[in-house]
Amino acid sequence: MKFFIDTANLDEIREANNMGILDGVTTNPSLMAKEGITGEQNILQHYVDICEIVDGPISAEVISTDFEGIVKEGEYLATLHKNIVIKVPMIEDGIKAIKHFTKKGISTNCTLIFSAGQALLAAKAGATYISPFLGRLDDISSNGMDLIAQIRQIYDNYTFDTQILAASVRHPMHIIQCAEIGADVATVPLKAIKALLNHPLTDSGLEKFLADYAKGNS
Ligand code: G3P
Repeated sequence: MKFFIDTANLDEIREANNMGILDGVTTNPSLMAKEGITGEQNILQHYVDICEIVDGPISAEVISTDFEGIVKEGEYLATLHKNIVIKVPMIEDGIKAIKHFTKKGISTNCTLIFSAGQALLAAKAGATYISPFLGRLDDISSNGMDLIAQIRQIYDNYTFDTQILAASVRHPMHIIQCAEIGADVATVPLKAIKALLNHPLTDSGLEKFLADYAKGNS
C-alpha cells in the first residue's frame, strides 16, 4: 500500500519524506486554508513547493464546479509540474471533466466519494485515483471501511485500473484495516503515520538491550 500525506504543511511533508516512506501528497482547499495559504498565486506556488519536496503524485484540487471551469483550471494546474494530479469533485461535470482529462493523459483524483456507485462512475470515466472519505462516514455512524471493501470488490470484478486512495484517515487502525482490505493508497496525517511506530514492548525491549550492552561494556 502506498502512503500519501494529507496536509499542506511543508514541514510535515518534509518530515514524512525524510522517513523514506512517502509516496505522494494530497491537499484540499481546507488544508491550504489551515496553513494560511490563500490567493491564487500563493496556492499555485505552494503546489510547486510541494512538488519540489516529494517526487510522487501531488493532488491539486480544482475549485470550479462546471465542466469548462474544471477543465481550464485542471489543464493549467497540470502544467505546474509533471507530478500534479488533478483533484476533481464527484459531481456530474466532474465526471465529464475526468473523462476529458483521461483522454488527454492527465492524471485525476476523484474526491468526496461516499458510495460504491460514485466509485463505479469515477472508474468508468477513467479516474487515476478515487478518494473515499472513511472518517467522515464514521462520523455519521456509517462504516467507512465497509465502503473501501465494497469498492475493492467492484474494481477487482472488472479489473479497473483506478486506484483506491483511502482518505479522511484519522488513526492507525484505519491504516491497518485499509492495508488488510487492499486499498492501493492511504492518505494520512503525519500524526497517524507516526503512531504506527509505537509499541510499548519495542520501547522496553530497546531499553533492556541498551542497559545490557552498557553493563557488559562498563
Ligand atoms: O483527504 C481528505 C481529508 O483531508 C479529509 O479529512 O479528517 O477532514 O475528514 P477529514
